Amino acid sequence: MSTRIRTVSDVLDVKRITTQTLQEMKVAGIPVAMLTAYDFTSARILDGAGIDVLLVGDSASNVMAGHETTLPITLEQMIYHAQCVVRGVQRALVVVDLPFGSFQGNSRKALASGIRVMKESGAHAVKLEGGQTIVPSVERLLEAGIPVMGHLGLTPQSIYRFGTYKVRAEEDDEADRLREDAILLERAGCFAIVLEKIPAALATEVSRSLSIPTIGIGAGGGCDGQVLVTHDALGLSTDFNPRFVRRYAHLDRAIAESVQRYIEDVRDRAFPTDEESY
Ligand code: KIV
Repeated sequence: MSTRIRTVSDVLDVKRITTQTLQEMKVAGIPVAMLTAYDFTSARILDGAGIDVLLVGDSASNVMAGHETTLPITLEQMIYHAQCVVRGVQRALVVVDLPFGSFQGNSRKALASGIRVMKESGAHAVKLEGGQTIVPSVERLLEAGIPVMGHLGLTPQSIYRFGTYKVRAEEDDEADRLREDAILLERAGCFAIVLEKIPAALATEVSRSLSIPTIGIGAGGGCDGQVLVTHDALGLSTDFNPRFVRRYAHLDRAIAESVQRYIEDVRDRAFPTDEESY
């Protein structure tokens, strides 16, 4: 067997990113870049830019629908967003959140929800929040051939149990539970785990202890990949400012300035010109 170290292009020059590609990225030490997407046009741009994984996150409840939490979004709405994203994607792996109420406490329901997502949207995998309690659901989904991404740490579907969006697993007992949950999810067959808003040292330790990739959000640079909500990264939702968000653009300003110019042109009858008319 060849012992040659695989380069970035060996691993990433693929037509489609699969769960297997993510595993190869972990082995080769190539960080996974993941962003959220909820619609066709954005998905096409992000995919064309070379993103590895697009998450149809239940953060759609916040950034698309304007709800305060992720709890209200329904399975039907998630499927609709996933269908739009899948139509815009050629290369990225598309992962869809199973929303609140579509899997908790019932592995049969989890399976039924996962099957609906895969069948009706054409997405490639689902993501479930939770540790030990979701293991039966992960196993059932995998038996049906559905890849599962886990999600530990700050799990927004449990916000009313936590009572706050502060950093999780700072105390020893919660950190120990998270270490155990990560191992249980790996053993159950998850292909990756999102680690949200936990201390960087803990995320690094967990990432090193697992053979599957971890994808961090507010979990420091020691994870095997990173994820951000696209609206935060591109400066579209600017009222959410935790320290882990890096703004790569200020599209809110760019859009507002463009719209102001458009309004001026309309008022001045500078738009449309003869060239823009029939
Ligand atoms: O719904 C979402 O956008 C997520 C990410 C924050 C990981 O779960």
